[in-house]
Amino acid sequence: MLNIVIFGAPGSGKGTQSKLIIEKYGLLHISTGEILRKEIENQTALGLIAEEYISQGQLVPDQLIIDMLADILDKSPHSKGYIFDGFPRTISQAQALDVILRERNTSVIAVFSLSVEEDELMRRLLQRGELDGRLDDNPETILKRLAVYKEQTEPLKEYYKKKGKLFKVKGNESIEDVFEGITGVIDHLVY
Ligand code: AP5
Ligand code: MG
Repeated sequence: MLNIVIFGAPGSGKGTQSKLIIEKYGLLHISTGEILRKEIENQTALGLIAEEYISQGQLVPDQLIIDMLADILDKSPHSKGYIFDGFPRTISQAQALDVILRERNTSVIAVFSLSVEEDELMRRLLQRGELDGRLDDNPETILKRLAVYKEQTEPLKEYYKKKGKLFKVKGNESIEDVFEGITGVIDHLVY
């Protein structure tokens, strides 16, 4: 199975690249952020809890996310593989993902880390905030999200680097060029 993690700060292009990757390789896109936004829209118990954290730019507690993810994998078995977008975001989520995939006789083959400077991230997110009004795309919450990323999520790069699975990609180039960088690595790993 081709299981990929797409990794990077808020606004680095994880969702944009995931959509292109699933089309090319026939993978299933699992975006924990999108799933949580659906839960909020449907006012589920999980959605109500998640809304509190997301609106503050904080991470939703690990155990809620890990249970949600295991549940999704059970409900949507997929033979080709998954692209994990916005997950894992903490070391304990990464360890849980290893276990969850091992139980299904599979593993992560590559982690793509998109790097983009902060002022460009801010520009992209503010622009998107004006267009589609995402609850967390306002200046104050964006700054919080960026700080949480640095503190809790960025250390995961080292986790995957030690496993030899980390591939750094310049995320500030055009959408097409970033995609080409990613597919170059995938094609090399797979074929
Ligand atoms: P999540 O939905 O994952 O949001 P995020 O990480 O803040 O990232 P974004 O979705 O904002 O950005 P992106 O990297 O997908 O970029 P995109 O492609 O959209 O999480 C939201 C919240 O949910 C979290 O803060 C947390 O509270 C909670 N949550 C989610 N997962 C969790 C987890 N695992 N654990 C705990 N809590 C969790 O691009 C951004 C914009 O830039 C777009 O407008 C796009 O068109 C544009 N763009 C993209 N690429 C380029 C390019 N190359 N050049 C120019 N513009 C570009
Ligand atoms: Mg996204």
